[in-house]
Amino acid sequence: MTKIYAFANQKGGVGKTTSVINLGAYLAASGRKVLVVDMDPQANATSGFGFRKDDIRISTYNLLLEQVTANMVMVTYEAWGLTLLPANPALAGAEVELVNVIAREYRLKAALESVANDFDYVLIDCPPSLGLLTLNALTAARDGVLIPVQCEYLALEGLSQLVQTIQLVARHLNAGLRVRGVILTMYDARTNLSRQVVEEVRAHFPGQVFRAIIPRNVRLSEAPSFGQPINQYAPTSPGGLAYQLLAAELIKNDNAKANGSGQKG
Ligand SMILES: Nc1ncnc2c1ncn2[C@@H]1O[C@H](COP(=O)(O)OP(=O)(O)O)[C@@H](O)[C@H]1O
Ligand SMILES: [Mg+2]
Repeated sequence: MTKIYAFANQKGGVGKTTSVINLGAYLAASGRKVLVVDMDPQANATSGFGFRKDDIRISTYNLLLEQVTANMVMVTYEAWGLTLLPANPALAGAEVELVNVIAREYRLKAALESVANDFDYVLIDCPPSLGLLTLNALTAARDGVLIPVQCEYLALEGLSQLVQTIQLVARHLNAGLRVRGVILTMYDARTNLSRQVVEEVRAHFPGQVFRAIIPRNVRLSEAPSFGQPINQYAPTSPGGLAYQLLAAELIKNDNAKANGSGQKG
């Protein structure tokens, strides 16, 4: 069964895009068919895979607002076993243009219907806001939301608003939507602060925080400028190994759930 996850946190710079790219790459490397959906007008996932966003002529903007199928927007990376629905700056207009569209929150869900079954994982990268682009992602995210949280001061700030939004979407747009897991990112083992944040987040989201913690690692921030995921750019770096563990944990939990045994996020 296809798993469809949205990566959301209205705070910018917490590791949403980095997690989508690298988790996607490791899921693909372990033989899963992966579709990455870029719903951020900044198109960082798109450029992280080596695309110049200004070269993208047809993007998720067209998918949301025009009679364009996902197949027409898709780009496949044979070598990495990944497929991308790219974004470009035009997507910024969608936030406003969607307002008067019928079933405006369901546009992405509808667009994915024809293709989602071709994949094992659909990972949707959200913009840093709770507007209509994120609502489209949350509505399409049948299997839940992954929340990257930066191990920094005020890590929990804004998360109650995010959880409220998820609950609203669960009530009105996507029954059963829930937090699938919290990903701790940019952990710095040298600081007490990072350790404190891990404790706080685990207390706030009991049983929902992934065991694999993503360290702060310069390789992860360099990789996008080479248009490569970390498993290509620096697979043995601490960041690479951490995302590899995270991918294995996600697969393991998803399998446990599919087999009906109890699982913990
Ligand atoms: N674990 C990490 N270690 C070092 N730099 C990171 C890490 N995760 C993300 N970054 C960098 O931090 C910045 C913000 O990350 P990004 O994934 O783009 O966040 P978001 O998508 O939530 O805005 C980027 O420059 C990215 O390369
Ligand atoms: Mg991003």
